[in-house]
Amino acid sequence: MREIKRLREMYLYSLKAKSHGKKVGFVPTMGALHEGHLSLVEEAKRRCDIVVVSIFVNPLQFAPSEDFARYPRNLRRDRQLLKNFGVDVLFLPDAGQLYPPGFKTFVEVESLPKKMCGRTRPTHFRGVTTVVAKLFSLVNPDLAFFGEKDFQQQRIIRQMAADLNLPVEVVALPTVREFDGLAMSSRNAYLNPRERKAAPVLYRALSLAQREVQGGERDVNKILFRLRSLIGSEPLVRLDYLLAVDPETLQEVKQFKGKVLFALAAYIGKTRLIDNVVVG
Ligand code: PAJ
Repeated sequence: MREIKRLREMYLYSLKAKSHGKKVGFVPTMGALHEGHLSLVEEAKRRCDIVVVSIFVNPLQFAPSEDFARYPRNLRRDRQLLKNFGVDVLFLPDAGQLYPPGFKTFVEVESLPKKMCGRTRPTHFRGVTTVVAKLFSLVNPDLAFFGEKDFQQQRIIRQMAADLNLPVEVVALPTVREFDGLAMSSRNAYLNPRERKAAPVLYRALSLAQREVQGGERDVNKILFRLRSLIGSEPLVRLDYLLAVDPETLQEVKQFKGKVLFALAAYIGKTRLIDNVVVG
């Protein structure tokens, strides 16, 4: 596995691979890898000739009050995992090159980033779209792989790629979960044993939404009420939001029709976790 830090080297590597007719797949991450990340790597391996994985904890997508400094970092373990999965390039972009002094250009999608997570994290998605646009321009992938766990993120990146006519296919893959349903996340490492035990209530609630719809319930507010009271029964969990939205527009829906995204964010102690399911 080749390790690349310099941006120009990444750009030239990919250009050369593509000039030899290779299909380049890209999996951007912030490291502290788990099976969710690795499911993206596996799919990239299946569908592409060359797989590039980036690890970069992007300061631009963290607000000053958030967990940038203590975000889990474990490069030695990540490197070994990626090697075992047959990844071709580990891209570790140099932060000073990515954000040189005087940097002042941002990529911002309108409206979608104001919804859902954007209500509590108003600057988050512009940090994400800016770094992903830069990574796309350096790696120049044919396909880029994202998790539905961060549903709003993949929706916004898809919008950005379409609006900027980027020659990349954005692929979204299902959420990988722990044995008890908790969505895998690098942030799960923050949970103490009591918090970890409480956390699966989030997925239990989302599964209840699925069952309610299957059972014929069409009144979304009734479903949300039942989910809220289930989550409310777990004293360690504090909801940030729980919404039923159209998966395309992320607009709130009242009546069940077509597909509905049930999405939530919740604090367990100081840890903010997100999860979602698409029903229908
Ligand atoms: P990170 O949280 O490291 O996630 C990297 C990718 O893994 C994202 O596409 C995310 O949706 C996916 N992922 C995380 N947990 C998953 C799970 N349980 N199942 C399936 N996929 C999962 O998301 C980011 O990094 C950053 O915002 C990034 C896109 C790299 C930009 O900085």
